[in-house]
Amino acid sequence: MDVFKNLIRWYHKNKRDLPWRRTSDPYKIWVSEIILQQTRVDQGMEYYIRIINRYPDVNALANAAEDEVLKTWQGLGYYSRARNMLLSAREIENKHSGHFPENYCDIRNLKGIGDYTAAAIASIAFNLPYPVVDGNVLRVISRLEGITDPIDSASTKKYILNLLEEKIDKKLPGDFNQALMELGALICTPSNPRCIICPLNVHCNAYHTGRIKQIPVKTKKQAKKIRYFEYFIILVREDNKWFTFLEKRSGEDIWKGLYQFPLIETKSLLQNPIEEFFSRNKGFIRPDDILEQYTSKMISHILTHRIIKARFQMLLLESADEEFYEGFKVDYKKLFSYPFPRLTDRYLKVFVEKFEKKFV
Ligand code: ADE
Repeated sequence: MDVFKNLIRWYHKNKRDLPWRRTSDPYKIWVSEIILQQTRVDQGMEYYIRIINRYPDVNALANAAEDEVLKTWQGLGYYSRARNMLLSAREIENKHSGHFPENYCDIRNLKGIGDYTAAAIASIAFNLPYPVVDGNVLRVISRLEGITDPIDSASTKKYILNLLEEKIDKKLPGDFNQALMELGALICTPSNPRCIICPLNVHCNAYHTGRIKQIPVKTKKQAKKIRYFEYFIILVREDNKWFTFLEKRSGEDIWKGLYQFPLIETKSLLQNPIEEFFSRNKGFIRPDDILEQYTSKMISHILTHRIIKARFQMLLLESADEEFYEGFKVDYKKLFSYPFPRLTDRYLKVFVEKFEKKFV
């Protein structure tokens, strides 16, 4: 019996019943694969349902405003996924007459779609024989074949891709790909894999040579750099209303397109953040106008290549002169309609609990 036939049989018996497995609509499969690129199935499910309900097809997404899409995506992280999805939906509307492209090259040319996502959509939605190579697949195949070269090197990925191009089930490429990913998620897990019940155990090199703990091999990662974010929640009261100040993040950096409170970013922790803020924002606010002040705890936010250590300085002020500030003034009551990074959104919930009744 062919080793991969066992795998597909196992998949048909054991696969999780997921909403994107009940459709062959390429739009829905695309949305699910973009979410699952960097998010676990259990966390991604809620967002998948939310996005498909709000934007049931390419046309609905293409006509949405970026702020609204980012708000829907809020909390999932890696926001370039949402921005690129919106750009691609608009491109499908304009270049492909609203029809999702049906061949690998046209799918691969959409913004935000790399080799992995193009292969996933092509195989699952259109039954085309393109193998997917993600972290789960690399782990399963390196164990099965006893590959001890690092799986994060381009040459190992290419080797595994070539091997799968030969092995992929030409009749059921979508099931073949999903079966490998599912096995990686449910059985061939990074630690404590369930080898005894694995449908591939008879053929598994790492299992038979006692090297399950040693394989896959990864190159040593460099230590993550720390970025310090000092945010300033400036509150002023005018005409019986509370106002605060925001700016939209731009530039090629994390959280592009999301909103933030005035920010000072540094490479080491600021000793006197408030003094620093006053000296950088002359004319905007003045030390003499402070009525209340509060400093949050340090919050760590761990990303793939960076750690962000953030702190919020709340300043309640007599007045502020917005002409000297590059962002914009916001009615405090409208604050929660803006898309924020999850870090900020979470802190704002603490802020509301702690201060809203007191000051706002
Ligand atoms: N991870 C990403 N896409 C997946 C899929 N279609 N099935 C299982 N795991 C996945």
